[in-house]
This record gives sequence, structure tokens and C-alpha cells, in this order.
Amino acid sequence: MTDPTLQQPRLPVDAPAAEGETRPLKLFIRSFGCQMNAYDATRMADALAPEGYAETGTLEEADLVVLNTCHIRERAAEKIYSELGKIREMKEASARPVTLAVAGCVAQAEGAEIIRRQRAVDLVVGPQSYHRLPDLVRRARAGASVVDTDFPVESKFDHLAAPSAAKTRARGVSAFVTVQEGCDKFCSFCVVPYTRGAESSRPPEAIVAEVRALLDAGVREVTLLGQNVNAYHGIDAAGRAWTLAGLARTLADLPGLARIRYTTSHPRDMDAELIAAHRDLPALMPFLHLPVQSGSDRILHAMNRKHDAASYLALIGEIRAARPDIALSSDFIVGFPGETEADFADTLALVERVGFASAFSFKYSPRPGTPGADLPDHVPAAVMDERLHRLQALLEEQRQRFNRSAVGRRLDVLIEKPGRHPGQLGGRSPYLQAVHLEGPASLIGTVQPVDILSVGPNSLAGRLPDLGRPAAEDPTPALERLAS
Ligand code: 5AD
Ligand code: SF4
Repeated sequence: MTDPTLQQPRLPVDAPAAEGETRPLKLFIRSFGCQMNAYDATRMADALAPEGYAETGTLEEADLVVLNTCHIRERAAEKIYSELGKIREMKEASARPVTLAVAGCVAQAEGAEIIRRQRAVDLVVGPQSYHRLPDLVRRARAGASVVDTDFPVESKFDHLAAPSAAKTRARGVSAFVTVQEGCDKFCSFCVVPYTRGAESSRPPEAIVAEVRALLDAGVREVTLLGQNVNAYHGIDAAGRAWTLAGLARTLADLPGLARIRYTTSHPRDMDAELIAAHRDLPALMPFLHLPVQSGSDRILHAMNRKHDAASYLALIGEIRAARPDIALSSDFIVGFPGETEADFADTLALVERVGFASAFSFKYSPRPGTPGADLPDHVPAAVMDERLHRLQALLEEQRQRFNRSAVGRRLDVLIEKPGRHPGQLGGRSPYLQAVHLEGPASLIGTVQPVDILSVGPNSLAGRLPDLGRPAAEDPTPALERLAS
């Protein structure tokens, strides 16, 4: 599969005009990279709404443009500079003053260097300072060049404005909630510990309150986000440390919450309590993204992953014993320095053993400041290309096999939105597969049993069961197990 995609600009949601303004100021945010950036984009929009900014999906009408950037691989970071070049042209052509801000992980990593490379940029803001955005934007609009890449002592979450219920509703029935940020694992290829800082967890009460507000506004599914989400260790008002499992158990009891997901996890933090939560909580969806990166012990050691292939496979065995229908997803890197053909064969063998429902795979990209970049024996680009191609072919075959195994089954689908055609609805299966079906818009926000009829390249087609006919007892106890 390919890189996590460029996030689409979200639908405009109206905000009141600022005092003295004849029209609301327009805000255009484009997010790159991971889901946490997508979540951060919503929180930035919420922070700027009281300042009179309404979101727009049209770059040309924006008074404030925010590029919410990703630094994980070189290509992602370089893409930002070509985007900035294009926005500079638009800015110069605009009759109105346009403020250009760079947020996210490139902002954190490169700081003032961004303004040196692209003078059209007015504001550089790191992920820990989004609660300061109103002030930073005011200063930038007054003509200052502003850079804020602090790791402030105050938590941004205590200061970020909450969205209105109407805004939350407009964003759909599935919402992200960041519960944890940063990473202490220091995998030797990864910039995250440097750009997002040390692991920190939000207090459980704040998370529960945020989820309650989402539910009141009509949300039915939350995805708990963290760079290392299963290392969650929020401290409550009584000084007790909570785990992700404890948090999931509490959230599962909230009336109206149909589904809980979480991402991204580290194998080392997948403890017995969390595995038991998968066994016990029907709301915890049977889909787990658990990156392994490589199947070679030598490479896993060089990556400083703190697990080997056998312990990963044993873990998968325990998780499947607890929740037999769980579908798995992973991240892979090919061509880490020193990776031989034999190491790569170990990765393919691990993929064969596990059987993934979906996966992301990448060519290794040396990141400045990470230990991996200084290792000898970098793998030639052509070798990386060829390995990536072989790995992706195998993963794609598994993905398609997994999707095909849904045909003929009745799956619960959270109906999320109108489909592309009139009378059509779009939703997601428990396994995160996109499903489309015919049905009334009144079903949006409900979980419906859906008979899966066929499978397309990226989605399943289904239909609401004939009410006169009782559901045939599903003969398959779990989705077809891919591994032998
Ligand atoms: N090169 C290639 N892929 C990387 N990832 C993280 N850092 C790098 C890098 N330097 C991948 C890992 C991680 C995912 C989010 O991005 O697979 O799990
Ligand atoms: Fe990066 Fe490893 Fe931390 Fe994941 S666990 S964010 S790959 S350092």
C-alpha cells in the first residue's frame, strides 16, 4: 500500500465574523501525514473560530493558510516546500493580505529555517503550541515573523477551545480523540521522539469529558490516538495511573458510544490487560494496527524495536486467542541499513505467518538526527524499490483475500454518511472496511447489520437484510484465518 494519504480539506463550517470584520475571515488547513495531524487540524480550527475564522475548502479565498506538515520521511517533508512555493504565488496574486502558517512536525523540526527557505511563510508553529495560535496569528497578521516551537510547560489540551456541537456534528459520526502524544521508544529510524517529544498522556477525566461532548453531539465512534497509544498512562485527580485498557472499559460504559478504536500501538505495550479488554468489550473493535516494521531479528535489533519476530508472533497468537475474529494491520520498512536478501525474506515469512487485513509499507528514508541515518550499508534505491514491490504485492494479495472473505457474511456497519449516488449510504465494517449500500439517510449514525454481496478494489458492497427473512446464522465463526 502507499503512504498515508494527504488529508482532504474538510467541509467548511461557519464561524461568527470577528468584531469589525464585514465577512468572516477564511481559514484553509491542509494536513499531511497521520491521523493525529488530522485531529490537530480540527483543534486548530476550533482554536481560531472565536477569532472569527471560518473554514474553507478553497485555498484561493483563504485569509489564513495553514500547512499541517509531516516529517516522518524525506519525501513528506520535501513536499511541503513545493506546496509552499505554490501558495506563495497565490499569496502574491491575492488582493487581500494572506497569512501563511506552517504547523506540524516539519515546523517543529526545522523552525525558523522554514522562513529562511521560503520567505512567504509568516508563522511557524510546533504541535505543542496550538493553543497559542490565536495570539501567534494576530502577531503574524500585524507583520511579525513568528516562530513558536517550544515544548511549553502548560498543556495545550487545557487551553484549546472546544468545538460547538454543530461543528462536531458536521464533522461526522466518527471522531478522533488524542489521548497520548510523543514517544520514548527511540526506534533508530524515527523522528517522532524528536518532533513530538517525550511520551505524555492526558488525564482520563479530560478524555472522558471530551468523549461525552462528542456523544452529545451525535458521534458514535471514537478512535483514541497516540504515537504510542497503548503506552497510555494518564493520571486522574486522585493520583491513580490509568491504562489504555482501563480507559477503554470506562468509555465502553458511556451510553451512545458504539465503537472504540485506538492507534498506533507498540508491540511492547500490548499487555495482558489490553488483550483482555479485546476479549471483554464488544465496543472495542476487532481491528488492530500493530506495526512490526521487519521480520528479521537482526534488523529489528538494529532498529531498536525492543522485540523480535518470535515475540511478535507469540503476541499475535495471544491476541487471536482472546478475540478470534480480530483483523490485523501493520507498518513495514524495507531497506533499513544493512538489510540483506535473507533479512527481507524473514519479513515476507512473517507476513505469510500472520496474514494482514491491511498494511502500510515504506522504503527506509534516512532522517537527520536519527541513529539509523549514521549506520553503514545503506541499501541501494533500486534494491529498495524491488523489495517494496514484492512486499506490497504480498500484502495486497492478503488484503484482497481478507476482503473477499467478507462476501456472504452479515457484518455490523456503522453508517457514516451519504454515499456517492442518491439513495446510497457509506459506512465501515468492524474491520475498518468501507461498505456502501442502499438505504435511507435516517440510518446515518446507527449500526446496521449488512449482508455483504461483493467486493470492489477499495470497498465492499452490501444490502440491508430483508426484514421478513431472519438472519442466517453466520457459518463462519471468524473471518477466514489467513495464516495456515
Ligand atoms: N523511513 C521509512 N519509514 C518510516 N517510518 C517511520 N520512520 C521512517 C523512516 N525513517 C514508518 C514506520 C512507522 C510509520 C508511521 O512510518 O513504519 O510505523
Ligand atoms: Fe517512532 Fe518507534 Fe516511537 Fe513508533 S515506537 S513513534 S516508530 S520511535
